[in-house]
Amino acid sequence: MQPIFDQVTDDLGILYGGDYNPEQWDPAVWREDARLMREAGVNLVTVGVFSWARYEPEPGVRDFAWMDEVLDLLHAHGIAVDLATPTASPPPWLGVDHPDTLPVDRDGVRLVPGSRNQFSPSSRVYRAAALAITRDLAARYATHPAVRMWHVGNEYGQVDHGEEAAREFRRWLRERYGTVDGLNAAWGTTFWSQRYRSFDDVLPPRRTPYLVNPTQSLDFRRFTSDELLACYREQRDAIRAAGVTVPVTTNFMGFFALADYWAWAGEVDVVADDQYPDLADPRSPADSALVQDLMRGLGDGAPWMLMEQAAGATSWREHNLPRTPERLRLDSLQAVARGADGVCFFQWRASTVGAERFHSAMLPHAGVDTRVHRGVQRLGADLARLRPVAGTRVPARTALLFDWESWWAAEEPGRVTERLRTLDQVRAFYRPLWDRGVAVDVVRPGASLDAYDLVVVPQTYVLDDAAEAALRKAAARGAGVVVGPMTGVADGNAHVVPGRFPARVADLAGASGEEWVALPDAGVAVAAEPGPWAELPGGGRATVHGELLRADDATVLATFAEGYLAGLPAVTRRDPEGPGGSVWYVGTVLDEPLLGAVLADALARCAIEPAVPGAVAAGGVEAVVRGDAVFLLNRSDTARTVAVPGRWTDLLTGRDVADAVTLPAHDAAVLTPAKSS
Ligand code: GLA
Repeated sequence: MQPIFDQVTDDLGILYGGDYNPEQWDPAVWREDARLMREAGVNLVTVGVFSWARYEPEPGVRDFAWMDEVLDLLHAHGIAVDLATPTASPPPWLGVDHPDTLPVDRDGVRLVPGSRNQFSPSSRVYRAAALAITRDLAARYATHPAVRMWHVGNEYGQVDHGEEAAREFRRWLRERYGTVDGLNAAWGTTFWSQRYRSFDDVLPPRRTPYLVNPTQSLDFRRFTSDELLACYREQRDAIRAAGVTVPVTTNFMGFFALADYWAWAGEVDVVADDQYPDLADPRSPADSALVQDLMRGLGDGAPWMLMEQAAGATSWREHNLPRTPERLRLDSLQAVARGADGVCFFQWRASTVGAERFHSAMLPHAGVDTRVHRGVQRLGADLARLRPVAGTRVPARTALLFDWESWWAAEEPGRVTERLRTLDQVRAFYRPLWDRGVAVDVVRPGASLDAYDLVVVPQTYVLDDAAEAALRKAAARGAGVVVGPMTGVADGNAHVVPGRFPARVADLAGASGEEWVALPDAGVAVAAEPGPWAELPGGGRATVHGELLRADDATVLATFAEGYLAGLPAVTRRDPEGPGGSVWYVGTVLDEPLLGAVLADALARCAIEPAVPGAVAAGGVEAVVRGDAVFLLNRSDTARTVAVPGRWTDLLTGRDVADAVTLPAHDAAVLTPAKSS
């Protein structure tokens, strides 16, 4: 997927711009916009995301003339276009004339027009109408010189539980299982008398008297992701069929629950993502870093695009804190550091109408003489200077496993504790790595781990053959493996694997368990055993979830100090005699310092250093190496001096740096080796 997107950034450099919705403005404003975009350093805008009702005011009618003018104008100003198919928001007439295009929720309520996204991905009428407008758009603009990318739909995430979905779900199940007996076995319908006599009797999960069959629910999630992907693919294929040779993509949403992006990633020419960090959350920089490492991982290390972010505040949270220009700059540089070759926004000009009238934009209501717009102009200039970074890769020796199907299966209700959440675990295991400045790749379970010296498995509830084999191979080669709670519990049908857990890898861990245990609300004390740690932590606390474990062939690093599990292992480490890496097993939810100590132990034993040791020593400085560039982001409120042995040039300022650089509070540097004169 690499080369086709590289051609765009080879020409344009780091992409910079945002969604542009010209249908909300008069042509005179378009001309002003094109000029102001240039002045802000914008080189790419996404147009037409919500233009369906304008293109097709009545069924079958077409009005593209205004878009001709917009594209020609942008092209004349040297601004490239990422042209969207407008299929995320059908015109109201589609739902009025064809109610079966409208999605039905779990409770049987049919959603109505008046917002956006009101379509069923399974609706034949919707699919045909979406394809028809896409074909006409592609035929008209396939070779327009402004159009350098195509953007299918927007944030795919619709779900339908109605009759259209039921029909397609049954088709999907027939393909998956072949026979209804196969479905009955997979779904475990012996439980609660759920045996189906025919596929025709099967329904999507709707409102039921009590808990829904967990495998039915898991399969419906798989189906929903596949159905959305089918919508994407047929539009992409129509675009290609019209002769388009530039990249085609759609925008992902990080750890979004309704689409399995591992399945999607191979279908886009560049991974693109929308990111809106919660500015009220002090850990949001670490959480954004994780999402960005996921985006890089989805593309197998290739450059990705930050497709949308907010220039200031969002408007969809209950209380939307502002994003300072300094924070915007640091977060944008963070994305580039972690592999993004595009930094774009929702949206260019702030809307005065509609549901998002208070969402910030690159050009606020108050115009150019504003704090937000000055920040946008500065960022445009910064990104232009980072052109040499485009196309380069981020090296990492640590892998962190994450997978949608496991996440889905793990969170079906009816379990020991609903407070154990996969994403919480993924974030908790990632944060100590981020704090220690370690580069991490997010990897799909089952993918090759050959490039890694440490593999972190926060919670992979479903561990299949391929995932098990990859872990064994990595450990046998000498890589360290850190396994978190509730890993390897179930098979691909979400059936619990009987025996001691973690099923399949208990021998690798040298520890095994017999009972999952919800911990009291206050948590329990955990004692760190003296001796075996790289850095001996003090004691700590465990909350939410514990496991009744036995150390079969492992050293106990920490022990539950009270309660139901008192005296039993909470954390173990197996150090195999002879070849092979150490394996840590964390059978609970540890507090941050203690989990940090476990990961520090793993990093030390695997000899994994921070990407920039001087940044960790300085404190508060996020540091990432990409290609030969060193990104230093001072996220603290005071100036920090970072040791960087050698001679460098700061791409942002052009100044020379030798051995150390001082960054004012909330400032950044991007160092590349100085050219010897
Ligand atoms: C997403 C959507 C945009 C807009 C923004 C608001 O990114 O794609 O259309 O709604 O959220 O934050």
